[in-house]
Amino acid sequence: MKFYSRKLIKPGDLNANNTLFGGQLLKWIDEEAGIYAMTKLNNHRVVTKYMSEINFVSSAKQADVVELGLAFVEVGKTSITFRCEVRNLFSKKTIISIDKIVFVKVDEAGRPVPHYQTLATIQKVQQAII
Ligand SMILES: CC(C)(COP(=O)(O)OP(=O)(O)OC[C@H]1O[C@@H](n2cnc3c(N)ncnc32)[C@H](O)[C@@H]1OP(=O)(O)O)[C@@H](O)C(=O)NCCC(=O)NCCS
Repeated sequence: MKFYSRKLIKPGDLNANNTLFGGQLLKWIDEEAGIYAMTKLNNHRVVTKYMSEINFVSSAKQADVVELGLAFVEVGKTSITFRCEVRNLFSKKTIISIDKIVFVKVDEAGRPVPHYQTLATIQKVQQAII
């Protein structure tokens, strides 16, 4: 799993209990994973199809810094699936884990279309960039 971006928790990110609002965290994850899917499928037209069971493992508070991690699970014909973990940057304590987030490549009309990528081709491009 690679941790790509970091977020500083600010007052507007909190719930009524003064801990990180779960909806805000899911918004960050959806955006991060969506951008990752766009780069891996080399196309901006992808939509979130499915999120598996979400486990809010521990809370985070104002001024904490969290980091968002993603890992490949599988690459299908029109879809790509990631696993996600968000953890505290300093303590490394897990805040949330999601086993599966599925994105689907779609056409102008929003219909699923093949992306013609495989795990091997994606990893090859990734190695070339590094
Ligand atoms: C994404 C969407 C176009 C897919 O349409 P669909 O009729 O389900 O398409 P398909 O059945 O052909 O499935 C497309 C892919 O999604 C996968 N998929 C479908 N349902 C799934 C599920 N419940 N869990 C995991 N993967 C799923 C299929 O396996 C397929 O992947 P593959 O081609 O790599 O094998 C359609 O469901 C949609 O528009 N959803 C709303 C998307 C959206 O607006 N998201 C933003 C958040 S609201």
